[in-house]
Amino acid sequence: MSKNLKVGVFGVFRGMALVNNLKLNNCELVAMCDYNEEHLQRALARCDKDVAVYRNFDSFIEHDMDICVLANFFHEHASYAIRCFEKGIHVYSECISNGTMAEGVELVRAFEKTENVVYMLAENYPQMVFNLEMQNTVKTGTLGKIIYAEGEYNHPFNPYDIGISKTFEPYHWRNFCPSSYYITHSLGPVMKATGAIPKQVSCLNMFSPIPESDPVVKNNGDKVSIITTQNDDGSIFRVVGCSRFGGHHNAYRICGTKGQIENLRGMGNKVMLRYNEWEIPEGKEEINCYEAQWNDKDEELIKTAGHGGSDFITARIFVEAIKANKQPEFPFDVYSATVMSSVAILAHRSMLDGGKPYEIPDFRKEEDRAKWENDRLTPFWSTDGKAPTLPCCSVTDYKPTDEQIKKYKMLAGIE
Ligand SMILES: NC(=O)c1ccc[n+]([C@@H]2O[C@H](COP(=O)([O-])OP(=O)(O)OC[C@H]3O[C@@H](n4cnc5c(N)ncnc54)[C@H](O)[C@@H]3O)[C@@H](O)[C@H]2O)c1
Repeated sequence: MSKNLKVGVFGVFRGMALVNNLKLNNCELVAMCDYNEEHLQRALARCDKDVAVYRNFDSFIEHDMDICVLANFFHEHASYAIRCFEKGIHVYSECISNGTMAEGVELVRAFEKTENVVYMLAENYPQMVFNLEMQNTVKTGTLGKIIYAEGEYNHPFNPYDIGISKTFEPYHWRNFCPSSYYITHSLGPVMKATGAIPKQVSCLNMFSPIPESDPVVKNNGDKVSIITTQNDDGSIFRVVGCSRFGGHHNAYRICGTKGQIENLRGMGNKVMLRYNEWEIPEGKEEINCYEAQWNDKDEELIKTAGHGGSDFITARIFVEAIKANKQPEFPFDVYSATVMSSVAILAHRSMLDGGKPYEIPDFRKEEDRAKWENDRLTPFWSTDGKAPTLPCCSVTDYKPTDEQIKKYKMLAGIE
């Protein structure tokens, strides 16, 4: 049997779930780093053997490891990925890959200086069973030329369920995240299914703030960003970031010139495949409605994993890439990752600019890097205390009321 890959995890909240799936793929956890004592102790309690513990990244990155899992704050992955590159450590980065355009440029420049380092965006939603079914159907060619796709990651939350917003940290990224930024769960699956790469984006938001009677501390009162991209093959995507409209669902739809496939909202893993009545392929009906199946050698392990089993397959793609000494498949490589981040960031700029279209750069090209290399505008607070330089909401002076903050603190048991 080949040697186990040694894993270090930076940010142990989501990070421990990622590690568990790497462990199922012949990796071992050797080190963890987090400065939140409560999160650290909870993670340690889940370990079945001795693991080195660090509270700052500088000491942690000196530990002997093959892989670093980056599950720290959403908008602060890029600079740590670069530190890993410098040490020759493979990177499994939570989404998104970069929080600013300049960081996207820095990430690809640093990546290109590495040798034999694998970078993977740990975007898991394309590996959900219905999305795999859509990918396989597109590959048959029976849908014709793919011209349009939709991706919705729709995640309303109960404001009284404090668990989802974790502890009260007024400057935490979840309290400042624009609606377009959490994009990889909607855009990743449609890029994977179609192979298309966004080239232009425009966006409009719907403002509908949480009622003032509810205990919510978010500075973004938008319910949804409707994001439209025109792609390199002429096709169009209509995706959302993290939205909060209607019932909870992850919904995707891929349309070709001859037919379409979609998963059915609120119906588990059911998919609907339809063809034009004059273009029905042999063995199919005009309307085919069925449960997507895994048909995977690791089905039992997949069923133990989070996010509908997708966390396991995502980890497997990464480990297989390392073992084959190649970059992960599209769209999990560093260039696709920065395209997704550019769509997130520039959709927000478009929305603030009345829906004006923005071109999506290709960071393989030096002229596109030069255009964005100094653009550090951000809607987030940084861990070292730098204030946002952009509003995070379409109503640019929106913020939670004192009453909401007071109610939130009471519910969370915070003084
Ligand atoms: N793919 C998925 O399905 C999925 C699900 C949940 C979260 N995520 C992603 O995982 C990442 C983390 O999310 P989360 O919900 O765990 O958020 P979180 O903000 O609660 O956790 C981040 C953790 O990193 C630690 N941390 C941050 N900066 C640090 C530093 N400089 N030094 C030491 N520790 C530091 C924090 O203390 C915290 O424990 C985000 O990018 C999020 O988008 C992805």
